[in-house]
Amino acid sequence: MISSKLQDAINEQINKELYSEYLYFSMAAYLERIGLPGFSIFMRVQAQEEHAHAVKFYDYLLERQGKIVLKAIDAPEVDFESPQEIFEKTYEHEQYVTGLINNLMTISIKENDYAAQSFLKWFIDEQVEEEASMDKVLAQLKLVSDDGKGMYLLDKELGTRVFTPPV
Ligand code: FEO
Repeated sequence: MISSKLQDAINEQINKELYSEYLYFSMAAYLERIGLPGFSIFMRVQAQEEHAHAVKFYDYLLERQGKIVLKAIDAPEVDFESPQEIFEKTYEHEQYVTGLINNLMTISIKENDYAAQSFLKWFIDEQVEEEASMDKVLAQLKLVSDDGKGMYLLDKELGTRVFTPPV
């Protein structure tokens, strides 16, 4: 059985992952609207990943005989200035999520919950990948800058991303 403190923190994390899904889904709509369908696909896949993260926490809490308490999801932004702004915000958001995951690990260490520490290890590694992936696109965007041909090619490349369910 999981402690109530960790249960509350995981319920909070489920909400944050679902908010991340919402945020990236909103960004995908903006990217589609400004004529970047490949960027939009990339962000839709990211939204799917966030949903899968929420489900992973949800399933884990149930497995530990915890209680799921779903809360209202904040509305995400709908207007953005540019793809670069989107990826700057996304990179920042992922750093924020990394902090949340680290905090969950800190709680599980304080509570000597070794099972939770083992479970959270997946998310610690995942966040390294998440931050790197957003930082990579941001760097590519800075490279192509106002070059229309470069943007066209980057859009094509990002549009090849496919969702792979986490194990
Ligand atoms: Fe669920 Fe992008 O971290």
